[in-house]
Amino acid sequence: MATSKDYGLGEFDFARGWFMIGPASDASRTPAPIRYFGRDLVLYRGESGTAYVVDAYCPHMGAHLAKNTTSYIVRDGEHVEGEAIRCPFHGWRYGPDGACNHIPYSDFIPKAAKLRTYPVIERAGILWVWHDPEGLEPDVELPDFGGHYGQPGWVEWKIDYMGDLNSHGIEIVDNMADFGHFIPIHGATDWQYFANEFIGPHLHQYYSAGHRTLTANPEDFLVLDTWYEGPGFLQSAMAGAFDSFIMIANTPVEDGVTRSWHALMVKVHDGSRETTDEDRAMALAYQEGSRLAFAQDVEIWANKRECINPLAIPNDGPYAKVRLWYRQFYNPRNKAPEIQGRVNGLHVTLDKRPGQKVA
Ligand code: FES
Ligand SMILES: [Fe+2]
Repeated sequence: MATSKDYGLGEFDFARGWFMIGPASDASRTPAPIRYFGRDLVLYRGESGTAYVVDAYCPHMGAHLAKNTTSYIVRDGEHVEGEAIRCPFHGWRYGPDGACNHIPYSDFIPKAAKLRTYPVIERAGILWVWHDPEGLEPDVELPDFGGHYGQPGWVEWKIDYMGDLNSHGIEIVDNMADFGHFIPIHGATDWQYFANEFIGPHLHQYYSAGHRTLTANPEDFLVLDTWYEGPGFLQSAMAGAFDSFIMIANTPVEDGVTRSWHALMVKVHDGSRETTDEDRAMALAYQEGSRLAFAQDVEIWANKRECINPLAIPNDGPYAKVRLWYRQFYNPRNKAPEIQGRVNGLHVTLDKRPGQKVA
């Protein structure tokens, strides 16, 4: 297992960005222990239904806020009150801003009685957390995933948990530049175009090739725009027999251990009729096909050793640029523009489109 420092990513061990921490169904009125970014955290829902993530250990004497079933605080249903969470040990209560706002046996509340809190957004059936080593508010918006989730004609995705991989997130993001794996791993044929575009915190992959099984006719091309908005999740819009939208999330559990999920939603009709059980079954089958394709990448990652420096050849995609782009999230915010300036632009690995010279 190689760490962020081993890859020379920057000052921080964990990146700045929005990260998936689980499906929305993971959050409930019962506080749950979770672990990401090498930290023990607690996830709970307040009475309003809003989800919160806070550090797990109480500043008073270090009790775990969620790992308890026997305290009378828990048994008496006082664990979550309104939007606040109460520690099972001595009953100190912390509001959604993290500040202690009640101590059952004291009017005096020390200022240091404050939990670290993390911004949470629930979107597209998923819980997203803003992680920032500098402790600042988000400087990028969480996207709306094409705006398709919950829209008429679209079947919502289910969340496929892909495993906890002994691979650093950089090895997963490398995939964006990985021209050479599409034929052996994903069954691509007849390359037309492969390029990457670096736009500040965004990284695109433009792809056009035939495919062994995914195209309706052998002479058709699969045309994909796949992109990262920050280090933690990939989106891909695919036009084909059905329009679909893929999300792949990678969240560090420890430095060098990555939890991975996959999800796909499908447009099954234009919204002018009801969605049927057949539509849903078809959409799930479509998602399963995509999951199996991604599982082919995952099988590689789950078993490979770390690759600190790719033995890259000229016809490989721009791994070095992808890794430089990725470093902006492991360094202070004010260093990001300098890194972006070095990497911004279009890198064409292959262009065999009619009328184009071969790259
Ligand atoms: S350890 Fe949490 S209230 Fe004392
Ligand atoms: Fe892949």
